[in-house]
Amino acid sequence: MRYFPVFFDLDGRDVVIAGGGEKALQKLRLLAKTTSRIRLVAEAFDAGIVALAAGTDVVLERRRFTTDDLADAAMVFAASDDAQADREVAAAARAQGIPVNVVDAPAESTFIMPAIVDRDPVVVAVGTEGAAPILAREIKAKIEAWLPAGFGRVAERAREMRRQVQEAVADPVARRRVWESLLQGLWRSAVLSGDDDVAARELERQLEAARTETRPAGSVSLIGCGPGEPDLLTLKAQQRLQEADVLVVDRLVNPAILEYARRDAIRIDAGKEPEGPSASQDEINRILVREALKGHRVARLKGGDAFIFGRAAEEMTAVRAAGIPVEVVPGVTAAHACAASVGLPLTLRQKVRQFAVVTGASADGDLDLDWGALAKPGQAFAIYMGVRRAGYFRDKLLGAGAGAETPVVIVENGSLPDERVVATRLADLDRAISQSGIKGPAIIFVGLDWAAAGLSAPGKVEIYAAAPTITGGQLESRAGVASPQG
Ligand SMILES: C[S@@+](CC[C@H](N)C(=O)[O-])C[C@H]1O[C@@H](n2cnc3c(N)ncnc32)[C@H](O)[C@@H]1O
Repeated sequence: MRYFPVFFDLDGRDVVIAGGGEKALQKLRLLAKTTSRIRLVAEAFDAGIVALAAGTDVVLERRRFTTDDLADAAMVFAASDDAQADREVAAAARAQGIPVNVVDAPAESTFIMPAIVDRDPVVVAVGTEGAAPILAREIKAKIEAWLPAGFGRVAERAREMRRQVQEAVADPVARRRVWESLLQGLWRSAVLSGDDDVAARELERQLEAARTETRPAGSVSLIGCGPGEPDLLTLKAQQRLQEADVLVVDRLVNPAILEYARRDAIRIDAGKEPEGPSASQDEINRILVREALKGHRVARLKGGDAFIFGRAAEEMTAVRAAGIPVEVVPGVTAAHACAASVGLPLTLRQKVRQFAVVTGASADGDLDLDWGALAKPGQAFAIYMGVRRAGYFRDKLLGAGAGAETPVVIVENGSLPDERVVATRLADLDRAISQSGIKGPAIIFVGLDWAAAGLSAPGKVEIYAAAPTITGGQLESRAGVASPQG
């Protein structure tokens, strides 16, 4: 982020617009909404400017701009139709450390103007650092359509009664709940529709409820955050993130997802390495209980889905044992996201009738999986946390009768920008992983390929085996595919 968005307090401050034509008029229209003192300096002014300034405090100075015009200026706009004159204004402003915007010349400006949605005092500023103003306009149009015209009134009324709510509800957690109830419920609709009596009654009702209630009960949401790509979050997960007072975050949760949470939410990093010691799980359980008992809404953020190798059961048990309500918000599990990302169906009519998920993680080294069942033809499965034990899986499956040519697809960092896909055969599984440098997180699909589904493999697939059953003639015919070595 090169440009940092801030809101400037211009109340009673001097703002200078150097220019008298269309560009200056556009800036004047925007600035006229502020409570600043506006001065325009130009040898002549368009009729639009004169009309807009008439009857207001806007000052029009009919003469050439001089550096004296910058005295006491909080902000300057160089908005003439003369590029050289604009450059001189910008240089003078910069020399005095005054923020300056040169219209249509970001390189000469010290700040740039966002697209603005105005529901004063609610103001939304959208910027693209000048990269694609059309995108900013599109976003602005969407926000304009979404924000009711009277939205500013809601914020204005909230400002007026801030002190009243503060005095009525001393506990900050309870007070936040009151504000949420007011701003998301009946009070807000009443203010929007101008029904002042209903709004006043609802405010009184909410304050009374907060006065008589003891501290609100906390809760825990186990939220599946998907494999990484923020667009794969569910709407419910987004809502819970917004509401959460405390975030307890797993290692594989993409930091971009935290953008959906409130900025003032407390963040606790509960990152655990794969197969981490159970003590750290106990510690996480304790944190969840401790924070919920304080009355907080705790969002426990997990990669993928909480119920797939997510240790949700331990956390639910601990939280329920403390008498705290717990809910589970499902997420897109890594196998589903990886399969979708590479276009690999997980079941096939009459060919793949069973799909399983298995884990390569184990506290005591040996995995008590049903190897015979997994090795059967027509059985497909996804191995989670299996990268480090790829050789073990190969040996166990081949030993249980699986075919050496059984197709294998490995997807690393599925759904993320650095996603990689490697196709191989079971006999070459560990060699493919070590040669391709796959480190994980990765899903290893066994018993699935594109050809069996009548599909072509995506162009990004790297192949690490001369495996006829994988390719069905399709992968080998693609150009630029890595060949297996050794
Ligand atoms: C502790 S498990 C958690 C699984 C998670 N609860 C789920 O439903 O996806 C972690 C494993 O999930 C898989 N995984 C998580 N994110 C992944 C991603 N973006 N791409 C591929 N595999 C991923 C890897 O096998 C990783 O070792």
